[in-house]
Amino acid sequence: MKQILVTGGAGFIGSHTTLELIQNGFKVVVMDNLSNSKIESLDRLEKLIGGKIPFYQIDLLDKESMIQLFKNHDFDAVIHFAGLKAVGESVQKPLYYYQNNVTGTLNLLEVMNNSGVNNLVFSSSATVYGDPEESPLKEDGPLSSVNPYGATKLTIENILRDLHYSDSKWRISLLRYFNPVGAHESGEIGEDPNGIPNNLMPYVTQVAVGKLQKLNIYGNDYETPDGTGIRDYIHVVDLAKGHLKALEQLFSEEGLFTYNLGTGQGSSVLDMVHAFQEATGINIPYTFAPRRPGDAAICYADVSKAERELGWKTERTLIDMCRDSWNWQSKNPNGFE
Ligand code: WQD
Repeated sequence: MKQILVTGGAGFIGSHTTLELIQNGFKVVVMDNLSNSKIESLDRLEKLIGGKIPFYQIDLLDKESMIQLFKNHDFDAVIHFAGLKAVGESVQKPLYYYQNNVTGTLNLLEVMNNSGVNNLVFSSSATVYGDPEESPLKEDGPLSSVNPYGATKLTIENILRDLHYSDSKWRISLLRYFNPVGAHESGEIGEDPNGIPNNLMPYVTQVAVGKLQKLNIYGNDYETPDGTGIRDYIHVVDLAKGHLKALEQLFSEEGLFTYNLGTGQGSSVLDMVHAFQEATGINIPYTFAPRRPGDAAICYADVSKAERELGWKTERTLIDMCRDSWNWQSKNPNGFE
């Protein structure tokens, strides 16, 4: 049974991927500093799998503890989610983001290399495409960063490309997520942002559950059919399944691989609001507000490469995403508390 370290495994995408790995026969060890997640998510996972999941509360900047962790476990690969991910906060605190995301990843890579662990799936982001001129976005398109968070993701991708080209023993998959939303069908795990949500779906579900009054739609004057921003929303369970496919590829092929993980479909903010109302029967009051600085009008993925090379594509619809997000939020009005 292959053993996988999942950094950030107590988080939204990390917990869903941990569940998928365990349900597909992998042994998983979770490392998380719990700065933006709750240990309760792991208790829920253990309830879902009917077993224990080894957990270590370790920070990426604590290299000594990571060295000890790699002495205690013979990992076959690492899936690296751990990192700070709030765009707005990254603009206010760039050094905090570079320290945690870049220095933390360098620490992880050094410990991996010294332990002979050279298989890595990295949680990248569509944000490395910068402010895209046009969609759909392809993996070989131009890369740039428009905020410090995006710069850390692009910097880490560059580090990993250099690492692989220096030594082909490094097998690496760079997974560029678009907009992950939804939750596991059980409603036991889901997205639990700290404070007022920045992202659309958790904001909508908090309006639906009565924690927030109404949705502010940032801009209805974009060059889009209904004037609101278009994104590629992907169900977190489809995303988790994409990680499984990427991991399995590393066990059979040498190389550095880059994949967009999205649906390949664009949906506007109003499409999402209407889908949520259709899926749940709950009306979401909203008002149009000025555009949010830094927002692109349209951003969605070309997903043909992942389909061709990984045999992976999404199965869940916008309605599924809304239904599952609401199932999680309605069962957990205050998240994991
Ligand atoms: C989606 C759409 C908003 C909130 C961000 C990060 C990105 C990635 C995913 C990490 C946009 C509109 C939103 C609200 C709104 N994170 N919106 N009212 O900005 O596409 O991507 O999350 O990798 O790096 O930038 O996602 O959910 O914030 O916005 O109208 O209260 O919803 O304008 O059109 P975004 P989002």
